[in-house]
Amino acid sequence: MITTSSSLTEQSPLPCERGPLSSSVLAVLRGERDRADLGGLPDADPYGDDLQLALHCCYEPHYRGFAGVPNDCEWDPALLTARRELEQVFEHALRSDTVPGSDVAAEVDALLVEPVDARGVSHHLRRDGTLWQLREYVVHRSMYHLKEADPQAWVIPRLAGRAKAALVAVEYDEYGAGDADRMHSVLFARMMVELGLSDAYGAYLDSVPGATLAEVNFMSMCGLHRRLRGALIGQFAMVELTSSPGSDRLVRAMRRLGCGPDAIRFYDEHVEADAVHEQMIRHGVLAPLLAAEPQLASDVVFGIRASLLLGERLSDLLLDSWQDNTTSLRQAVDVG
Ligand SMILES: [Fe+2]
Ligand SMILES: [Fe+2]
Repeated sequence: MITTSSSLTEQSPLPCERGPLSSSVLAVLRGERDRADLGGLPDADPYGDDLQLALHCCYEPHYRGFAGVPNDCEWDPALLTARRELEQVFEHALRSDTVPGSDVAAEVDALLVEPVDARGVSHHLRRDGTLWQLREYVVHRSMYHLKEADPQAWVIPRLAGRAKAALVAVEYDEYGAGDADRMHSVLFARMMVELGLSDAYGAYLDSVPGATLAEVNFMSMCGLHRRLRGALIGQFAMVELTSSPGSDRLVRAMRRLGCGPDAIRFYDEHVEADAVHEQMIRHGVLAPLLAAEPQLASDVVFGIRASLLLGERLSDLLLDSWQDNTTSLRQAVDVG
């Protein structure tokens, strides 16, 4: 039985603007303008709050949509035009800030080696993180995990043969292997409730910074462009190949902090599941994909490196804030 409090068809409320770009996109969503004015785009921080929220607002209609916004805005030419302009700036920044490469095997090997310096949010939480820091981490992650596996589902029609079959097998697990109660998004929602957080879809959208939105926006961008299918596979591989040890550290953090079984279950499930998914992605998806389409190798590497870059930016933000004993969120969350 599903025990989370939120309706699984619940929509996100429209967020508050964060600058001229998001203000303009929100005006289109509200039906107040028939085109977005993105004149400030050349001066915008490609990873910043304003651009990333604007991009999030362009993508959300492809998922559950916003409460009070008509469903057909998903294909509103004004929104699609704005999305394209924002994506070009974001993608250009990511390509400029990552070193190009095409050796996928070397990239995968590097992902499988845990860094010795043990820096990172899961290391901190396992060692000596506090409950409020754990809650903040979960709030950041909720932007993805409450729609876990959805951005990667966009790539399915853009694949063929063995790579497609294996990717769908991984996605099947993410969606609970036929059991809605075991969908990873549902396990995550249940964890939020156990930790005293709201599991309502989009409840923390105004709380999370651009660095959090950028990680999910990257998945959405790669999923929605056939041209970027290699990068989407790289992004998915990065997650699946690194998730198991990080999930184990989060289980240990939760046990140390006395969290209940509903909180622990989400990461506990990923310790084992992602150890299996790692193999499925490497041998079932990457190998046949690159055998059939070797020209995708550089974009697979781009997807891995861009995801790592965005993950490091977010991790630095959390750890730097916590070191100063301040919140990593735009506004601290209330705990129920
Ligand atoms: Fe998962
Ligand atoms: Fe997985």
